[in-house]
Amino acid sequence: MKLAHYSDIHVTHFPLSGKPALKRLAAVASYSLAGRGRHFQGSDERIGKLLADVDAQAVDHALCTGDLTGVSTEAEFSRVAGLFGPRLEQPGKYTVIPGNHDRYVRGAEGLFEQHFGNLSEGGRFPFLKHVTSEVSVVAIDVARPTSLIDSSGLCGPKQREALLGILTDASLEGRFVVMAMHYGLLRAEGQRDARHHGLRDDLEVMELIDRDDVSLDLVLHGHMHRPYVVKTKKRTIINAGSATDLHVKGCGYNVYEIDPAAHRVRISRRTWNAGPGRYEAAPESPLNRELSTR
Ligand SMILES: [Fe+2]
Repeated sequence: MKLAHYSDIHVTHFPLSGKPALKRLAAVASYSLAGRGRHFQGSDERIGKLLADVDAQAVDHALCTGDLTGVSTEAEFSRVAGLFGPRLEQPGKYTVIPGNHDRYVRGAEGLFEQHFGNLSEGGRFPFLKHVTSEVSVVAIDVARPTSLIDSSGLCGPKQREALLGILTDASLEGRFVVMAMHYGLLRAEGQRDARHHGLRDDLEVMELIDRDDVSLDLVLHGHMHRPYVVKTKKRTIINAGSATDLHVKGCGYNVYEIDPAAHRVRISRRTWNAGPGRYEAAPESPLNRELSTR
């Protein structure tokens, strides 16, 4: 079974459209002064080529772990939905969940669901999707609008309870189970993320996924733009990083070759090569490896 995983594609236009909000004005400063505009310059073209490259790998399923937009405007959502095109009609092949930039300000509610609801089970989180006869994706939504100086996420007690119900259900026993979320649970060196940037209930979610009665092989996420693999006590976590951020050396995405019965996965990185303008295999990537997931 082949699964593609990409994240943080950030369609980026000069952010002065949509309903005015202090946080969106701050995004203008980030775009102009802090270099976000340069990091994601031409991201529309890379997103189009990324989606085509994913399809060319003949994967069984493709998962995007959020941050499709920059500041959650209607114009950005329309543009990135246009790049997805007919893929939006194929929930059996594609899954997309929102990131904090897709829930950037109050007032943008419903825009993600309007454009990508078909690929996220109508935005009813958490959800369980059987993507092949042996592989299942469980997705949670931990993104929410926050203040100017806060980009933290929250799973919340209600969603954690529902998540536990799904992950301990007998129907998942024997299957290869992938959990998808936007935020990470640990940083690259294994430490917790900062309070203003990470998941507020990271410890509770980690305690949940490390339970003996939970069926889970991989946790897949984005949010941090540099990719890495890390472990909790029991689970393997893979951050795909940003697929389009030019500031990140090796920006790109992952293909997972999964052996569901053996609970093994082989990670292969594909990265953006600006010269020919395409994504290609990165045999030297430190992410490439094969590992057991149980
Ligand atoms: Fe993010």
